Amino acid sequence: MMTTFPSLGLGTRELTGQQCIAAVQSALSLWYTHIDTAKVYGNETEVGQGIQRSNITREKIWITTKVWMAEYGRVKESCEESLQKLQTDYIDLLLLHRPTSLEEHEQALDSLMKLQEQGKIRQFGVSNFTLAQLQHAWEYTNGKLFTQQIEYHLALRQEAMKQFADSHHFVLTAYSPLGHGHLLKEARLLPLAEKHQASVAQICIAWLLHQGAIVIPKASTEARLAENFAAQQLKLDEKDLQMIATLPNNHRYFNPPFAPQWDD
Ligand SMILES: NC(=O)c1ccc[n+]([C@@H]2O[C@H](COP(=O)([O-])OP(=O)(O)OC[C@H]3O[C@@H](n4cnc5c(N)ncnc54)[C@H](OP(=O)(O)O)[C@@H]3O)[C@@H](O)[C@H]2O)c1
Repeated sequence: MMTTFPSLGLGTRELTGQQCIAAVQSALSLWYTHIDTAKVYGNETEVGQGIQRSNITREKIWITTKVWMAEYGRVKESCEESLQKLQTDYIDLLLLHRPTSLEEHEQALDSLMKLQEQGKIRQFGVSNFTLAQLQHAWEYTNGKLFTQQIEYHLALRQEAMKQFADSHHFVLTAYSPLGHGHLLKEARLLPLAEKHQASVAQICIAWLLHQGAIVIPKASTEARLAENFAAQQLKLDEKDLQMIATLPNNHRYFNPPFAPQWDD
């Protein structure tokens, strides 16, 4: 089992076919240790192939995948399918991708706890849950959630969710850490990037790492993968954090019709 904390991962949503295989291979060759995928991304097979081709031993890689919301009545089967596609006999972290009803959450969480007991998954968690749904899942599992994966970036700073995670001693995973690419055009971040001789993408990632989050930027070229990985070396100071705190804090880029009524 992987012992290092998977703080920086490769997000693979919208990566398909050869591009996905190549990105996973490149990421692993650059010493990324964490790959984030999902059943609904339709690329678990390619993620598995990229991992196989990297020749890195399984224990050195952290694989996160997700069960789609329509499958909470068949979590075990969904997990088996993911295991097969990913060509592995365990998943490091399996998430409930989106909230539905508390009854369905309980049914799915029961299955996740069973899969954990059986060693098919190492950890489990949730994604896109509201605070109330998260609280319910936390209590139902007696605090066994490893993470909640949410949209989290410089323009959606998730203070309430972070407070909840900190007080319950679990970690948040930040998806769309570059605001799905939109934050890279944020002119107010340019002076900060210049000060640190860094890119805006690196500032975005460094801020989330500073918050203690697991960060999973998606990138499809080796140059971008390397740039994002190097953000781990960047340290923001108090002045930078104060400046960031003045930025708008209400940009949610992922809000599909089936999303819950968000807290903020
Ligand atoms: N749980 C959920 O419901 C959920 C929802 C959304 C996302 N996610 C996860 O979070 C991951 C990341 O989120 P995301 O894909 O929405 O967006 P993101 O990581 O915030 O941004 C990705 C965009 O930024 C570009 N990019 C990446 N690094 C760059 C760099 N150094 N310089 C310039 N451009 C750069 C990418 O371009 P190229 O790809 O063209 O290189 C892509 O267009 C997803 O892949 C997925 O794994 C989870």
